[in-house]
Amino acid sequence: MEAKATAYSNIALVKYWGKRDEKLILPTNPSLSMTVDAIFTTTSVRFDESLTADTFTLDGELAGADATRRVTAALDHVRAVAGTRAAAVVDSVNSGPTAAGLASSASGFAALATAGAAALGLELDDTQLSILARRGSGSASRSIHGGFVEWQMGVEADGRDSHGIQVADEHHWDVVMIAACVDAGAKDVSSRDGMRRTVDTSPYYQGWLDTVEDDLANVRRGIQERDFELLGTAAESNALKMHATTLAASPPFTYWLPASLEIMQTVRELRASGTEAYFTMDAGPHVVVLCQPDDAALVNARLGELAGVTQTFVSHPGPRAHVTRTAE
Ligand code: PMV
Repeated sequence: MEAKATAYSNIALVKYWGKRDEKLILPTNPSLSMTVDAIFTTTSVRFDESLTADTFTLDGELAGADATRRVTAALDHVRAVAGTRAAAVVDSVNSGPTAAGLASSASGFAALATAGAAALGLELDDTQLSILARRGSGSASRSIHGGFVEWQMGVEADGRDSHGIQVADEHHWDVVMIAACVDAGAKDVSSRDGMRRTVDTSPYYQGWLDTVEDDLANVRRGIQERDFELLGTAAESNALKMHATTLAASPPFTYWLPASLEIMQTVRELRASGTEAYFTMDAGPHVVVLCQPDDAALVNARLGELAGVTQTFVSHPGPRAHVTRTAE
């Protein structure tokens, strides 16, 4: 009735940006990410028939009502598969970078689904696990796999074909992702609220949808052929288009801070001076810079020198989510 699992976060090269079904968390477009080895969550789940409600501890502190509700909702899907109503004690620890505000929902909900299923003795395949992770947070569907992972949007109304599939494993190609963290300041618009507002109100949203398949084809080919320029160009352009949709939303919003722009400009300067580097950004002000292993030290040093950068984290392609312990 107890299991512990570790899952690694992922950074999208083609973003998931918009839901066609809010309840089932079904996306309006396919996405493709790299699982990253430096950002991860370790979660233990213990089911106990005598408990009346789930408890959720995050980084050593009892979590608030909202976070606990999300964990309960995600665990309910695991409980439904197992046919149990037992409540659980959930204990999650994020690696350093997530505390800095980097993509913790992907690793968090992938670890929760993996540990929860193992604790209940469910023997699920990756498709089933990815679907369970997706119900917690869309991007978590990709963190079940290691390496480079596509989230097929699927066409079925019940979401049974909307899950992650591996495009290439973590040994295929050493792409380096350097997360440059900035001082986040005021509270962000969550990815959930941001994508909803954009889908509902941004006249640029259709433009996003119209070009995402081409970006996906280029990113996929860049990975298969280990063509860094093709990968980086398509990923950077895709991120800029996603962020452009927010500027035209009503009310408008942006995740960019002055420091984010400073990092983007530095990446362009690096490129102009012959170092191949590209950037991407999720629903927050931090910037993730893509480069090749031989350039990683130089790129990391340049980013670290910027006044607006608080810390950097260097990641390589990471492994799949996995169970580290089970007990009765
Ligand atoms: O899974 P969520 O709800 O945290 O959404 C993630 C959305 C982006 O990070 C902006 C893009 C992505 O594909 O990860």
